[in-house]
Amino acid sequence: WWPPFLPQSPAFFLPCLAIAFRLTCYYYRGAYYKSFFQSPTSCAVRGLARSYRGETALVLFQNLHRYTLYGALLLLVFLWWEGFAAFFRGGRFGIGVGTVVMLMNAALLTGYTFGCHSWRHLIGGRLDCFTCDGAVSPRFRMWKGSSWLNDRHMAFAWFSLVRVAFTDFYIYLVSSGTIRDLNTW
Ligand code: FES
Repeated sequence: WWPPFLPQSPAFFLPCLAIAFRLTCYYYRGAYYKSFFQSPTSCAVRGLARSYRGETALVLFQNLHRYTLYGALLLLVFLWWEGFAAFFRGGRFGIGVGTVVMLMNAALLTGYTFGCHSWRHLIGGRLDCFTCDGAVSPRFRMWKGSSWLNDRHMAFAWFSLVRVAFTDFYIYLVSSGTIRDLNTW
């Protein structure tokens, strides 16, 4: 049933998970609403919309962000698995520029994903008190870690985006034989 003019690989679906996650990200929403729709706009500048009506009507789909998080978490599993699998070629351990590139890609995307507002809410944002039972729970520590990443969410959003493109391009260059990966094999 898959149209013949589209790439014939299930891998085609994976970017859809990443794109849905980024498109509905709270940080990106703030950025592109302001940049493209001028809503809400900056001080004293008249916006395109007559009145700000929030994320209603057509933009209600943005609420799906909390569900796209699960797709992003699944992608992280694949990326870390691929990153570690890249250390083995023909059963022999080695290291190369490509392995470092892939691991850094997974690390930056991990920083971006675990700083997500939906993740932060999921692991503890909805609790009124973490320490009411007298102990600092592991959940509280996770929430603190997520809050730290959340503070830097914008930086992780952009660095990880550029890094994804660079990693894909690097792998393309190596697999097409355009460049050689420097490695220990
Ligand atoms: Fe940005 Fe969830 S808020 S990824």
